[in-house]
Amino acid sequence: MNKQNSVSLRWVLLFLVASLVACSAEEPAEEVMTESAYNTELNMQELMALVLEPASDILWDSGGWVIDAAGYEELYPTTDDGWEYVRAQAAIVVETGNMLALPGRAVDNDAWMIYSEGLSTAGLLAMEAAATQNKEDFFQAGAQLYSVCTACHQAYNPEINNRFVDPSAD
Ligand code: HEC
Repeated sequence: MNKQNSVSLRWVLLFLVASLVACSAEEPAEEVMTESAYNTELNMQELMALVLEPASDILWDSGGWVIDAAGYEELYPTTDDGWEYVRAQAAIVVETGNMLALPGRAVDNDAWMIYSEGLSTAGLLAMEAAATQNKEDFFQAGAQLYSVCTACHQAYNPEINNRFVDPSAD
């Protein structure tokens, strides 16, 4: 063994010892089991009708324009408080995405999860648009949200969609 080799071997050994020390230091804390803390007593209908739909309705009623007997009317919030209020409704939508994905609620680990995540994504876009009071982005977020609702209903309970009317139609 020449000198060159013995030096590199020493470095290799040093490296090995160092990585063993690093590994043991980084050992993750014991995983906390929180499963029993979830309260999923609200069934799917209640979660939809009492939590998700009221918040989403406020978002849809707060974007776009209407033309009626009184003339042209903008639906967007006109005050900082108004925008803060719709931002809070969008936050409910974000979190409902998580509620739908909880063990005991999630119907499968497949499309259901994608739609649940889509809900949170659309909600975050609406929150961002409300924070910056960007009407165009807020409207787009509402449209994206609507498409997530209908896609999930189409897949899991198609008959629900008949109860909705296209918000762009009014
Ligand atoms: C991840 C899937 C999923 C998403 C996303 C979803 N829903 Fe639902 N929704 C369901 C299912 C499943 C039902 C049927 C529940 C039942 O009858 O047991 C339902 C039912 C409903 C109902 C009927 C509740 C009742 O009283 O019978 C309403 C209203 C509703 N959803 C609104 C919405 C709105 C608004 C959105 C979007 C903002 C949305 N849902 C997004 C899965 C979803």
